[in-house]
Amino acid sequence: MSDGPAIGVLPTEVGTVSSVEPNVDRRRRRLRRIADGEDRERTAERLLRSSAERFYDPDVDIDWDAPWVDGKIWLPERRISLYGTKLWQQLTPEQRVELGKHELVSLLGFGIWAEGVLSSVLLRVVGRGPVTSRHSLYALTELAEEARHSTMFARLIEKTGIPPYRQPRFARLLDKAVQLMPIGPATYGGTLLIEEVLDRGQREAMADENVQPHVRQLMRIHVLEESRHIGFARGELRRGLGKRGAIRRAPHRAALALFALNVYPLMVTPRVYRAVGINPARGFVAAFRSPQYRANMTFMSEPMLRYFAEVGMYDGAVTKRLWRLTRSVPHDLANGERPTPASTERNRSVDLID
Ligand SMILES: [Fe+2]
Ligand SMILES: [Fe+2]
Repeated sequence: MSDGPAIGVLPTEVGTVSSVEPNVDRRRRRLRRIADGEDRERTAERLLRSSAERFYDPDVDIDWDAPWVDGKIWLPERRISLYGTKLWQQLTPEQRVELGKHELVSLLGFGIWAEGVLSSVLLRVVGRGPVTSRHSLYALTELAEEARHSTMFARLIEKTGIPPYRQPRFARLLDKAVQLMPIGPATYGGTLLIEEVLDRGQREAMADENVQPHVRQLMRIHVLEESRHIGFARGELRRGLGKRGAIRRAPHRAALALFALNVYPLMVTPRVYRAVGINPARGFVAAFRSPQYRANMTFMSEPMLRYFAEVGMYDGAVTKRLWRLTRSVPHDLANGERPTPASTERNRSVDLID
């Protein structure tokens, strides 16, 4: 503790500095930065506690030796890409089930690729340090969880007996582009794009009793652990946007929308259609032009897009135009109406953390 004069009397005792006014704005910004840092550490501490209390080991928490159940499906029918098309009408019930199985394998392969991309972002977060902060420790914990998830996805693919679908070369280019992006709203928005879209689909499938038990259990485990990841990324996205003015936010918003436009078509490879005797190009066009495509994409993206709108990640004409091209934007957002704030909805993802 210093024995010198109190700061408050300094200007009157030392004449030469009496004219120095405290920079209120700078001081406020600094206090906000400190509060932000504390808030971030508190969040990370809470997430670390949750990870220690509730985690799963897919090797033991899924009974891999149990056989598939006859008559069960792989994905809810209406989420299968050809659902509602003329091609769908021509498929036998067995072919529909088979197509669902292949689409699930494609989705799981996409999940492994996407988790690899997200993990490389997390490694960069750790690299920025300080490595002993709760924030860095949580990033490491999340990395470990993603590694377990990818192992779990791979085991399920293996159990189906269907060879995994390789990601196209374009996916590797996207991965490289992400590595070049600075850590910030675009990278955390991209994280949410993968995690929230899959989360929505998985919540529906895991509640469907017609779906294979192994698949439901895998989704349950994934949803529970991903709820922490979503909480973490949402917090970082909001914080990152809060630190930037309108001009510095714009490239992040556009990059995220562009990322979405390129990532959505990667989820189900058109090669799955060969399994039911449909030419991949024909299947892709039929699926993409179907009204069900928009319905499915909107269903999967809605909570995330409402959150983006709430925090300012869906502002700007270019951003909105790019998002509209993804055909995943709910009508009220697409029409420019005032969106329902995501935080007033029951946000079950984040609720699951506590
Ligand atoms: Fe995951
Ligand atoms: Fe995750």
